[in-house]
Amino acid sequence: VRAAVFASGSGSNFQAIMEETNLPIDVVLLVCDRSDAGVIAKAEKFGVEPLIFNPKAYAGKEDYERLIVEKLRGSQVEWLFLAGYMRIVGSVLLTNYAGRMINIHPSLLPDFPGKDAIGQAYTAGVETTGVTVHYVDAGIDTGPVIAQQEVPVHPDDTKETLTKRIQQVEHNLYPTVIRQLLEQEDERGAGISRNSSVIV
Ligand code: GRF
Repeated sequence: VRAAVFASGSGSNFQAIMEETNLPIDVVLLVCDRSDAGVIAKAEKFGVEPLIFNPKAYAGKEDYERLIVEKLRGSQVEWLFLAGYMRIVGSVLLTNYAGRMINIHPSLLPDFPGKDAIGQAYTAGVETTGVTVHYVDAGIDTGPVIAQQEVPVHPDDTKETLTKRIQQVEHNLYPTVIRQLLEQEDERGAGISRNSSVIV
């Protein structure tokens, strides 16, 4: 299955996906909205083509998403994996990749959506937080949950030690969920109807 990763940050989840052996995916594209993102060097290292765009150079979300979808379709990409893509996904991407676009978020959603979820949980003083993998919809971290894993907050944690523990869980959970999802999809034979949508 040809796939693209969307990321704007350091790319540790991108790396975890790339380093996971036996994943039934071929990551052919990195979509990134920041030219200074650490993930770009990682893409280069793994030989993944980067599509870097500056959202401010476009009149609106629909314009840059149309460009992205054209590139994705040209590269025969079927699945999108968001990993620290810090933009709300709009109608063009949602229409074209409905049900084939998932995201990872460092909290037990619906708790602590949006930015700095680890900091939000740490400041709130919860004893347990975690990681969520979910389908992407038009909201901020609101789509249907696919999998969650709890992570304990220790009394002596700093935000940094908690972040490390959460990242370890992320790097394990995301590839695992991707594998399970694609295996399920294979069993259902859903591949037949792939790529039938149009750019709007
Ligand atoms: C991760 O915590 C992910 O859950 C969130 O953004 C962060 C990306 O980190 N959506 P990285 O760039 O993969 O290191």
